[in-house]
Amino acid sequence: MKIVKTVDEVRKQVKEWRSKGYSVGLVPTMGYLHEGHKSLITSAVSQNDKVVVSVFVNPMQFGPTEDLESYPRDMDRDAKVCEDAGASLIFNPEPSEMYHDDFSSFVDMGTLTGGLCGKSRPIHFRGVCTVVSKLFNIVTPDKAYFGQKDAQQLAVIRHMVSDLNFGIEIVGCPIIREEDGLAKSSRNTYLNENERNAALILSKSLNEGRRLIEAGEKDAAKIKQAITDYINTEPLAKIDYVEIVDWNTLEPVSKLDRPILAAIAVYIGKTRLIDNFIIS
Ligand code: PAF
Repeated sequence: MKIVKTVDEVRKQVKEWRSKGYSVGLVPTMGYLHEGHKSLITSAVSQNDKVVVSVFVNPMQFGPTEDLESYPRDMDRDAKVCEDAGASLIFNPEPSEMYHDDFSSFVDMGTLTGGLCGKSRPIHFRGVCTVVSKLFNIVTPDKAYFGQKDAQQLAVIRHMVSDLNFGIEIVGCPIIREEDGLAKSSRNTYLNENERNAALILSKSLNEGRRLIEAGEKDAAKIKQAITDYINTEPLAKIDYVEIVDWNTLEPVSKLDRPILAAIAVYIGKTRLIDNFIIS
């Protein structure tokens, strides 16, 4: 497995693979890889001849008060995870390789990005769409893999690929959880012991919502309230949002009469965590 830092090196390698007729999968990441990322790479390896993992903490998707500087990084560990999972190439560019000084083109989406995480992170999806478009143009994969934990991101990328005719298949992969239910996330490393315990309130509150739905509840307001009340029993938790939205449009629904996404964002201390479930 090779690690390269420049766009030219990626292009050269992909060109060589293409000349041999190989299919190419891409797993875009910001590094500090965990089991969730590993499951994306494993899926990509099983469905493509060659797999590129990008490891790039994208400055453009962080707001001015967010955790760009403290975002965890460990390239040696990431390389081992990628190698063990069977990836062929890591693309690990410097910010200057991705954004030269006079960089001035952005991919801004008109729908899907205003609610959920977009409300408290107004520039986030512009940064995500821009960097993912660049990665698609650099790697030109057949398929690209994204986790369902970032459900809004998955919906946004699918929409962008359709709008801009990227001709890439977007594969959504299930949320991977710790044994006690906490969704795996690079940001879990910010939690101290008390916060780690408190963070279980995310998956538990969603389980409560799902239990109500399975018992026949169809009123979105009641399910939202039950999830909210459950989270509020945890003193270290502060809700950013609890939403039930149409899984296609991401618009809030009042009745559960179509595929829905139940999504939450909760601060545990200073750490903002997200989790969700989809009922199709
Ligand atoms: O999900 C992530 O880690 C990032 O948002 C992504 C897709 C790699 C773009 O920087």
